Amino acid sequence: MTDRLTTRIGTLTLPNPVICGSGEPVMTESGIRAALNAGAAGAIAKSVNENPAGGQQLDRADYAWLGDSLFNRSGLSQRDTAAWFAAIAAIDRDAAREQKFVAASIVYGSAEGAIAIASMARSAGLRVFELNVGAPHASEATPGAIVQETDPVRLRDLVANVRAVTQDMQLWVKLTGLSSNLPALALAAKEGGADSVCMMGRFMALVPDLDTLAPLLGTSAAYGGGWALPIVCRFLALSRKAVGSDFPLMGTNGVRGGHDAARMALAGASAVEMLSLVMHEGFAGLTRSIAELDAFLAERRLTFAELIGRAADALTPYGAQPETPGRWKDFVPPETLTKV
Ligand SMILES: Cc1cc2nc3c(=O)[nH]c(=O)nc-3n(C[C@H](O)[C@H](O)[C@H](O)COP(=O)(O)O)c2cc1C
Repeated sequence: MTDRLTTRIGTLTLPNPVICGSGEPVMTESGIRAALNAGAAGAIAKSVNENPAGGQQLDRADYAWLGDSLFNRSGLSQRDTAAWFAAIAAIDRDAAREQKFVAASIVYGSAEGAIAIASMARSAGLRVFELNVGAPHASEATPGAIVQETDPVRLRDLVANVRAVTQDMQLWVKLTGLSSNLPALALAAKEGGADSVCMMGRFMALVPDLDTLAPLLGTSAAYGGGWALPIVCRFLALSRKAVGSDFPLMGTNGVRGGHDAARMALAGASAVEMLSLVMHEGFAGLTRSIAELDAFLAERRLTFAELIGRAADALTPYGAQPETPGRWKDFVPPETLTKV
């Protein structure tokens, strides 16, 4: 593989745009090393939370596959935060030799908590901090354990406060999928001083089980799948307009291979965070995705950088489309068109 796949997020130049997203597969040092060994440019270590209730929730986590879509309630790392950050910082130092990284991540419960945890990440020597302000589980978790920020003014203040303590670290903000206000939130994160914004978190869902007639897993839970990708792509494109093409966005939610990574890039993502795929097919799924993306680019003599935002910048409004009267008739059953 060549420089074809190189991408930039803030001050980081990465060998490729495939990042292993935060979640259970990267809740251990061996999992993080496996993600990097599989070829990922980086891993977002499993998130911590400043409130013990976030970690306790992990003991009530449960998961169900619906095809390639994962329906689950999750929890947060139960490791002591200082020890966890020291462990992942050691892996990050090794990763840096290959231009890769390991990021600390928080699913936060309060601004004070986010600031305190960000300071700990910096003290540990980590180079990247991802602030997740949109974990889908907020509405169902113990009150106060997880906050979902959907107000741009509050988000800008939060990011500015975290920025102040992260200083020279890369600060990435991960946004919720449960708001239609993503362009304004992305802009607020940028104005608060974020180096990149990742979107968008999974959705909350209820799956009635026809065997038990009860809710699958007993609760509402987070839900994502390949079907989510076009929805994320639209928000990436709208957010790119809001923040400008020189501000790096990242895509997450629905990437199931290298072609999906290319789609996210065309919509405006400079990198993708993939997780469910790793739970479905193992870390080798990352290797497969990178190879597929590389082959796609090689065939078209393109670099990854040349994909970023191309489809987003070609978006046109409905009113600009050529008129095609009667086109709707191609999409209805014949009876609709029978003359009586
Ligand atoms: C089981 C599970 C646990 C997750 N835990 C976290 C987490 O701790 N922190 C976080 O920021 N995102 C977390 N996520 C979100 C993922 O990092 C990712 O953004 C999301 O699953 C969408 O991408 P995907 O379609 O590739 O899975 C989790 C997702 C799943 C499925």
